[in-house]
Amino acid sequence: MALLEIITAPDPRLKKKAQPVERVDAATAKLMADMLETMYEAPGVGLAAPQIGVLKRIIVVDAARDGAPPNPLRMANPEVIWASEETKLHEEGCLSLPEEYEQVERPDKIKVRYIDENNELRTIDADGLLSVVIQHEMDHLEGTLFVDHISSLKRNMILRRLTKVKKIEKGNKRHALESA
Ligand code: NI
Repeated sequence: MALLEIITAPDPRLKKKAQPVERVDAATAKLMADMLETMYEAPGVGLAAPQIGVLKRIIVVDAARDGAPPNPLRMANPEVIWASEETKLHEEGCLSLPEEYEQVERPDKIKVRYIDENNELRTIDADGLLSVVIQHEMDHLEGTLFVDHISSLKRNMILRRLTKVKKIEKGNKRHALESA
């Protein structure tokens, strides 16, 4: 297994639409395993392939509560086949938008069809945190970030803040290289 580098916003790769997976073969299953390892290490509750620079429709999720046994889900080509009319507000964060959190409104319950790590077609009913995380990760496959669901004023504030952080990090890196 291997840890992968997570891309942070703003980055054009996070705005692209991901392509369907033809079949989940050994290489795809390995990618899913690496994505899970990267997600747990971060730590996070979900990760989508575009966040590690792979434009494929793959997400991994583990919305198990703290202290509960792990419940990893590996999903290729996830598709929402039903969503409740009832919506809920939930505070979201994203490994690609470090330290930024905002309330996002989404359908409360969903039914999702996907292909698992053994290339088998499955459906899952999700509510609560699991529903939020799956919808959030599926957004990444469309090039959508949670900040795209909030007001442009708040979004621009967050992206400006992250651009500043990136510039500082770049500067630090250059410094480290110069002194090496
Ligand atoms: Ni995210």
